[in-house]
Amino acid sequence: MKIAIIGTGYVGLVTGACFAEVGHQVICVDNDPRKVELLRTGGMPIFEPGLEDLVRSMTALGRLTFSGSVAEGVAKSEVIFICVPTPPLPDGGVDLSFIEGVAREIATSLTGYRIIVDKSTVPVKTGEKVAETIRRYSPTKIDFDVVSNPEFLREGFAVEDLRRPDRIVIGTSSPRPGAAMREVFEPFQAPIIVTDTNSAELIKHAANSFLALKISYINAIAAICEAAGANVLEVAQGMGMDERIGRRFLNAGIGFGGSCFPKDLSAFIRISEQLGYDFRLLKEVQRINAEQMDRFLGKITDTLWVLKDKQIGVLGLAFKQNTDDVRTSPAIELCQRLLKEGARIRVYDPQAMPKARLVLPPSDKVEYVDTLEAVAPKCDALVLATEWPQFTKLDLPTTRKVMTTPIIFDGRNLLDRTEVESHGFIYKAVGH
Ligand code: UDX
Repeated sequence: MKIAIIGTGYVGLVTGACFAEVGHQVICVDNDPRKVELLRTGGMPIFEPGLEDLVRSMTALGRLTFSGSVAEGVAKSEVIFICVPTPPLPDGGVDLSFIEGVAREIATSLTGYRIIVDKSTVPVKTGEKVAETIRRYSPTKIDFDVVSNPEFLREGFAVEDLRRPDRIVIGTSSPRPGAAMREVFEPFQAPIIVTDTNSAELIKHAANSFLALKISYINAIAAICEAAGANVLEVAQGMGMDERIGRRFLNAGIGFGGSCFPKDLSAFIRISEQLGYDFRLLKEVQRINAEQMDRFLGKITDTLWVLKDKQIGVLGLAFKQNTDDVRTSPAIELCQRLLKEGARIRVYDPQAMPKARLVLPPSDKVEYVDTLEAVAPKCDALVLATEWPQFTKLDLPTTRKVMTTPIIFDGRNLLDRTEVESHGFIYKAVGH
């Protein structure tokens, strides 16, 4: 199929590359000329495992091209995927101006029948608005269909998730776009569910909110475990072995972050409100998530007492492992709050240091180091803030020797308590 992707962020670029990989002819469009140039010359605007090689090889094969023009994308494709950002508004709602802008550009570029697919995460009923906008701004009466196709990829595993999705949701009630969409996704050999457009849009918000709820649930259980002297790792394991519950997303820690969960929760609460439903359950999910950070900081201050001028090593800045993304990262929030208490921080992340430099305040109290080993010297405590697997390789005997006081706060329950304590550390984790 001939496919255009509008927007080359995480979702657009990975989708475009994976569509090209299965044999489609893909043109990726972005309104940022620097990004288009960078991609054309083999550069990568984001870090995502496996993406760079895939984009290079697909570009070399001529199956993946880049352009700054929506009109060119529309002219060269049968199916157009909208993958632009839908950032949060101050009131928790969603800023749909990029979607609207693209819909208008598509409208004025249409020369024949096209299928316009919304892949960005949007409030229910957005598809109807996109169709209305295209009809309104199209100079001639051209036939088209609008389809919803929410994306469920996880950052850090985006290529893998795209290649082997759990399911593909196609939101359309018309047979013509339904058949074309099946053709687009047929090579992925994943279960396909076809729903009406509104239901497809809702599936995305409902799924993400449920996953966030699962994390807040285990974080609440972690608080009870601490009070009761129980172990959240064992509770999660015991719960997770029930197939109806499942072990995934039951990792207690300093809370969820990233560009999706916090934003999608706020949006879903707001959308529900507009539809006349007060989604108090999800408000509680948000509250528990915020409280989780307070509780963790409380542990640090309880142990170190005064934080002013304490040297704290922070391992991890990204909002989770395998990514350089620091948007709404709990690790960054933790750094900011430690700085506010007057602590000096020394930070390390395998990928997110350049992006962290842009969001952490310029301060002589923030030191960036290039290796895991360089963090600990003369530290009063180490804090694990991101679940990078390589942090489990921390050389404990050496770390113990170089620290001023051997204290580890494990905000992701990454390390093994027995092992850490056997090396003489004070070890504080979450829920055990
Ligand atoms: C999420 C959804 O998983 C994905 O399907 C959707 O398309 C976009 O939003 P992503 O934001 O990339 O993906 O990250 P995810 O792996 O879901 O993690 C989100 C946050 O939750 C991270 O901060 C992570 O550290 C935290 N988390 C995750 C936990 O605290 N505990 C867990 O058990 C799982």
